[in-house]
Amino acid sequence: AVAAGAPTPFSSFSAIAPSAADRLEVPDGFRADVLISWGDAFENTDGTRLTYGFNNDFLAFLELDGRPDEGLLFVNHEYPAPFFQHGNRDPKTKTPEQIAIEQESVGNSVVHVRRVDGLWQVVSPSPYNRRITGAEPGCEITGPLRGTVQQNADGTPVTVGSVAAGSLANCSGGITPWGTTLSCEENYDGYWGDASAFAYGWKHAPGTDEYDEKAHAHYGWVVEHDPYDASSTPRKHTALGRFRHENTAFRHVAGKPFVLYMGDDKAGEGVYKFVSDRQFLPGRRAHNLRILEEGTLYIAKWSPEGRRRFTSQDEGKAGGALATATSGTGEWVAVQTSELVDCAALLRKRIGTAEYDLHFATNRPEDVEVDEDGTVYVSFTNNTGSGVWDYHGSIRKLQEAGGDPTATTFTWSDYADGGPTGRTTAGEEGFSSCDNLVFDSANNLWVVTDISSSSLNKDSAAHYRYHANNAVFMIPRSGPNAGVAFRFANMPIEAEGTGPYFDADERTLFVNVQHPGEETPSAAGATYGDPSTYSSWWPAGSRSDDYNPSLPRPSTVAITRVAADAPDPGTPVLP
Ligand code: FEO
Ligand code: CA
Ligand code: CA
Ligand code: CA
Repeated sequence: AVAAGAPTPFSSFSAIAPSAADRLEVPDGFRADVLISWGDAFENTDGTRLTYGFNNDFLAFLELDGRPDEGLLFVNHEYPAPFFQHGNRDPKTKTPEQIAIEQESVGNSVVHVRRVDGLWQVVSPSPYNRRITGAEPGCEITGPLRGTVQQNADGTPVTVGSVAAGSLANCSGGITPWGTTLSCEENYDGYWGDASAFAYGWKHAPGTDEYDEKAHAHYGWVVEHDPYDASSTPRKHTALGRFRHENTAFRHVAGKPFVLYMGDDKAGEGVYKFVSDRQFLPGRRAHNLRILEEGTLYIAKWSPEGRRRFTSQDEGKAGGALATATSGTGEWVAVQTSELVDCAALLRKRIGTAEYDLHFATNRPEDVEVDEDGTVYVSFTNNTGSGVWDYHGSIRKLQEAGGDPTATTFTWSDYADGGPTGRTTAGEEGFSSCDNLVFDSANNLWVVTDISSSSLNKDSAAHYRYHANNAVFMIPRSGPNAGVAFRFANMPIEAEGTGPYFDADERTLFVNVQHPGEETPSAAGATYGDPSTYSSWWPAGSRSDDYNPSLPRPSTVAITRVAADAPDPGTPVLP
């Protein structure tokens, strides 16, 4: 472990300039190595052959027996890409085989990794290696809605059941102090629903139409996993509510009930807190595994004080008063059990749209993280879809009354704003559209950005041009540079860096490179099977270096300091 506040290998670097190149760029003195990519094979010792999934998002490094050179990576695979995976983008004409390819590529991976001579490698076969897919295993449904029939906001029945087939749409997630991981099913509709341009059309394959997305609630939950037991059954917790779950961040105060913070990642939706009926009791595993099964879910009601960021034209529009404020007070409003099955729609129905938009709606909460002192940081990515224009987002701090995790009131203030800073020093131009957050032990906040690929480097989205590709930033929280965002890494074309996570001794920053080249299917002339027509060739090639036209592959990358005797990472290794 690294002493709190002491420098780490990552706490000092020369910030890099924005880039639109098809490369993963890091500062001088660092190297970025692809650890594993979509399609790579790995294996369990029981002989099960596994394939690394698509669109890696959440990532956690979990220690194995306290050895810093060995661990498990728990990874989410958020959503498929029909064009790259089998070429058929018409959800109405997909074959069962094509749907099976998509189902197999989403879910989660557990990957055993080992550090050899300073670089991480996959350990295969390993008894820990595992895949959870969009079809299997059967996941247990727990909590107050297990085995019940609830009502949708329109009054139609929705069956919750006790088992769900597999897991899908897992965006970010979290860990627990009792050694489990949580993955969050986010944009869960659109897989089994009616085939629209944005749906995957899974129900249109023969033999796969038994799941009606509106009549059943199998997806949209927080899923708890035991990454140390490849035969364990994942559990979906209805007590944490069903919404577009982004991630979880826990707070444990001895003697207090266990608390989990969560965001509903949709424009105009809210921030939630779950207060368990139980305390976390170290060493009491059977007790702790039930912590997320019973408790009270709350949604944040924000009361703004002061206005700043927008012009008066935004006043009075949906979310306007809240979005323009930079500080205020708040209270936690309990969600009723009958509202858990579809929190956003059912809360809007009870509270009323006008009141909800004024006091509960936010600019799309992505990650939440809890600081050592209990302060909750919320990443509001952006909001351009509900009458408010906040292209660049902000990071907000929430502090519970009296520092009590179970408090029913809080205060809040904005911590860092996205958008151009006007600074001309390379790497200090500012971030936009913050997504995942992670703290290091040297008192820095790390932020990744998620500007939509359809807006990146486009003249039609001039407000994002200063930023170029998505990036990873570090924001010092003390000292002369406190609050300044320094650009640490650039992602390749149309990619987003997700799940940043440090290993146990903070010598490695793991980053998932998600959806490189994802605009390819909408580009004129894009042809399945012809990589020369794809918009990114990363990681095997580079479109901007006109080198090795390749299928772009979402990949997990390990960023480390360059060892004194290592080969120069700036020299491309040609195949
Ligand atoms: Fe999948 Fe909330 O980003
Ligand atoms: Ca996200
Ligand atoms: Ca996002
Ligand atoms: Ca994304």
